[in-house]
Amino acid sequence: MADFRRKFKGPRPNRKNDRREFSRQQGGEDFTLRIEKMVQGGEGMARLEDGRVCFVAGALPGELCKVRLTFQKKDFTKGRVVEVIEPSPDRVKPLCPLYGKCGGCSLQHLASEKQAECLEKVERENFRRLAHAELPEDFVIHTGNAWGYRNRARVVFRNLPNRDGSANRAVFGFRGEESNNIVPFENCPVLTDALNEFLRESAATLIKSNSRELDVNVFDNGKGSISFYYPGMHKSDFDKHAVSVVEIGGRKIEADASVFFQSNLGLLPELVNAVRNAVDEGLASGKATNDWLIDLFSGVGFFACILQDKFKKITTVEREEGCLKHAKVNLDECGERNVENVSAPAEEWLLENVVDVPATLIVDPPRTGLPKEALAAIVQSSVNRLIYVSCDPVTLARDYAKFSEAGFALSHAEGFAFYPQTPHLEMMFVLDR
Ligand SMILES: C[S@@+](CC[C@H](N)C(=O)[O-])C[C@H]1O[C@@H](n2cnc3c(N)ncnc32)[C@H](O)[C@@H]1O
Repeated sequence: MADFRRKFKGPRPNRKNDRREFSRQQGGEDFTLRIEKMVQGGEGMARLEDGRVCFVAGALPGELCKVRLTFQKKDFTKGRVVEVIEPSPDRVKPLCPLYGKCGGCSLQHLASEKQAECLEKVERENFRRLAHAELPEDFVIHTGNAWGYRNRARVVFRNLPNRDGSANRAVFGFRGEESNNIVPFENCPVLTDALNEFLRESAATLIKSNSRELDVNVFDNGKGSISFYYPGMHKSDFDKHAVSVVEIGGRKIEADASVFFQSNLGLLPELVNAVRNAVDEGLASGKATNDWLIDLFSGVGFFACILQDKFKKITTVEREEGCLKHAKVNLDECGERNVENVSAPAEEWLLENVVDVPATLIVDPPRTGLPKEALAAIVQSSVNRLIYVSCDPVTLARDYAKFSEAGFALSHAEGFAFYPQTPHLEMMFVLDR
């Protein structure tokens, strides 16, 4: 102990203040707050009397709420609604009995038809704050079905012992966000009817009675065919049950339930159209050429597959090895066309390959956005026009700011309400220089 004291050079801990902070964090004080606006993540934002911002889960703009603080820091706090004193006219009763319990669909208290309008305000402000720029005036959010839209999910199957000692019973549910618990459901209202039906009918057969639990990816191809995948699946079962074909954009696209595929097939054609229009405009303007289409973060070669007829050479780059065999099926060498499907991190591919023609480039990274090496390599390349598809407007705004410093301008932006009842949004940006 004496040794430790001598070696310890940091500031002495202020035990009195530590205790006060701890008790404030635990204590849960209540405040009556007017909600100013919605912020990224779907929470309402208000201010405490001492000027600190409070992010309030479950609150809507304009509402007066009694809020219990759940978290405190020097410059901001978090809270949850204990009582809505003056409700917003847009507030509705959440449809799902698991609202607030399963960790998903946290925007159900906002009327479905108001969600896109609200998210548009959030994204305009997010862009202003993070990228110091304005989203174009004609930025719109495409909307589709508010419920029953989700065609892909990961569900946990678990065997529960019956109290009376009779055989186990199988339940299924979503894994809780911060625990290993599962939240069982019988009908998830954002999943497609076909997925709900499949889950109810297959729970008992999918999980063997001697195993405790199984994580299963399920996928509805939009034509009533359900595929599924679980770790350790035998190859013959994989070929029979995991592989699927989706018809979209005039193409048949092969995938399987172990890898990424878009999760809102109803609205996906609108994103496909937007990307196709952006590609056509690039070719017509001469800013991009049809010599080379590069589809980075390509999954099973989704965008390249739909656009392949327009290009002489196509490269798809995807890190997940399981995507490669499907990309090879989805893209055909045809006539003069040269196709290259690469299984590698996009940033590595960009460092090893010089893009010295004004290629047409599509990037569709995961939530984390573009790795910084990938962004730097794109800036250094001869690409003058970039189509950036994103499932996280925060990392999109961050990356846009860097492209903007490097001379790119935002020429077009569209939003896609792929995840109704949640605060998430899909976006497409076209950047030119
Ligand atoms: C949002 S998905 C898009 C997939 C595809 N564009 C589509 O529409 O189906 C992102 C993809 O990027 C892949 N990925 C993640 N990090 C990567 C990286 N560093 N390099 C290449 N691919 C990556 C993921 O495996 C996933 O398939």
